[in-house]
Formats: sequence, C-alpha cells, structure tokens
Amino acid sequence: MEKEIYLAAGCFWGAEHYLKQLDGVVFTETGYANGHTQHPTYEEVYTDTTGFAETVHVRYNPQRISLKYLLEMYFRSIDPTSLNRQGADEGTRYRTGIYYTDADDRPMAEYVMEQEASRCSAPLQVELLPLSSFYRAEEYHQDYLAHTPGGYCHLPSSLFEEARRQRDTDTIQKNDRYALVLRQMQSLAEGETDEVALMANMAALLHDTFGHWWTGFYRVLGDQLVLGPFQGPLACMRIAYGQGVCGTAWQRQRTVIVPDVERFEGHIACSSESRSEIVVPVWREGSIVAVLDIDSRQLAAFDDCDRYWLEQIVG
Ligand code: SME
Repeated sequence: MEKEIYLAAGCFWGAEHYLKQLDGVVFTETGYANGHTQHPTYEEVYTDTTGFAETVHVRYNPQRISLKYLLEMYFRSIDPTSLNRQGADEGTRYRTGIYYTDADDRPMAEYVMEQEASRCSAPLQVELLPLSSFYRAEEYHQDYLAHTPGGYCHLPSSLFEEARRQRDTDTIQKNDRYALVLRQMQSLAEGETDEVALMANMAALLHDTFGHWWTGFYRVLGDQLVLGPFQGPLACMRIAYGQGVCGTAWQRQRTVIVPDVERFEGHIACSSESRSEIVVPVWREGSIVAVLDIDSRQLAAFDDCDRYWLEQIVG
C-alpha cells in the first residue's frame, strides 16, 4: 500500500531534497499545484500570476511513516506563520500548503495543524486544501540539489542531516506487531469456524498487544449494531445504522478513522476516556456482518497502518 500527499514548502528544490530523505518516503517529484492555468512553465509560475504554488508530490509507505509524522517533519522545514515567504523567496508561488487527494486524510492534517498552531504565537498561514491541479515541473527542477552541487537552497544543510536520521519508530513497531497478530490469528482461525469464538480471541489478542482503551465487535442484527465480544470497560449495547462512528463505517462500507472524537459529529461516547477511534467493517459474502471498533485514550492513535493491517486481520 502506498499513499500520497502534496506539500508546498517554499522553493521546491530544498523542499524535495528534504522530504525525499525521510525514511518511508518512496517517491518525490517537484511541480506546480493548485493554480488556474494549464501546463504552466517555470517562467510563467515565476511571474506569480498563475496561482500555482511550488509543490512536492510525496508518495510514502504508511507502514513505515505515518501521515502524522510526515506532516510533523514537513512543519520542521517551514515557517508556518509566514505568508507567501519562506527564507529569501517571496511570492504566492512560495506559499505553504498541504494538498490532499484522499479526503480521509483531512482530519489527520487538521489535527497536526492544530498541534502546530498551539506552539505558534502567530496564526498559521499554511493552506489545507484538496489538490485541484498538479503539473510536474521541468526535468531541470527534479532532484535539483542532488545534481547541482552548491545549488541555491533556502534550508540549512543541518536539516537534511536530521532528516536522514529520522525514523518513525512508532509506526515501524506498530507494523511489526500487526504482522505478528496476523500470523497468530491465522493459526487460531485454522479449523475454527465459530465467528463469536474468533471475534472473542481477536479482541483479546489485539487488546493485549496494543493496550488500547477498548477493543471489540458490534454485530449487524437487522437495522442495528449489537455489542459483541470485546475487551475493556462497559459499552453501549445498540447502535443504529448511520449513527456514531460504528454506524457510519457500516453505512459508508469502509473503514473510518477519527483522530479526535470530539470533532466527529454524532460520535457516541460510551466513555469520556476515549479520544480517538478506528472502525473496520467485517465482510462475509459481500455484506457487512459486524464492525471491529478500537478506542484509544490518545488523540490520533490510528492511521493507514492500522487500517491496512486490521482490514487484513478481520478478513
Ligand atoms: N464510539 C462508538 C461507540 C462504541 S464505543 O466506542 C465502544 C461510536 O461512535 O460508534
């Protein structure tokens, strides 16, 4: 599984050189994003009349680096309170922005921006928008600093050294643990067909391995979800279709990740301790028969790494 995000961080020469060194980033290219003309050239963008921002297209492996960590690293490379200026580079083409192609990434980006904002004394000037257009820059601008020794760069070289040393150890560790859980579940599932027994052991195994606040299942019964095997404190017993995070995942027929439950409209608070949540539908023969729900006391505890593994494990 690979994911992508587009990051505007001032001059794209330095920005690409920085982002490509992060462990888990698998591809970068420089280009022009979210302007209003077609196929702009560098010279056109340079006039600052096309609306484009110099941007780095980043593809990453969410099993090695989370979007949260990637965005935190991005923030280290910019002055987020500076409007249309990074280092000596000035103009709307040098504005900062996070442009996503997957709307599900927005809540996590909002969470990271809020955390960053709380550390800044001035308001953030970083845009958070869906990607509306992107044109790859001329070859001359690709990997510019790697093939131009001493080339202009608005970022200090110490930042690149730091980037090379970075590891998203939380994600790497989480990934290894899930791989083990999957193997354990596969051997538990051998020869066992009773779904309640499997759900019970899966809840126990996940709960033991990760120590989250609440781990369990709701089963589809008619037009409601009814509490199934779980580990953790008492929980609400029935959830209607489309209600709460669980009912929403059932309705949307896909995994829902909520970095901050207070920002999810209609979240059902079984406990005030729960701060973030992931709900994964369980399929049998083309229909959803249950959902796996995991709650954490930490904000933003779940991401695409959890989604990737939990979908396989319940599968
Ligand atoms: N928070 C869930 C309800 C289930 S409890 O978290 C165990 C929801 O909004 O659907």
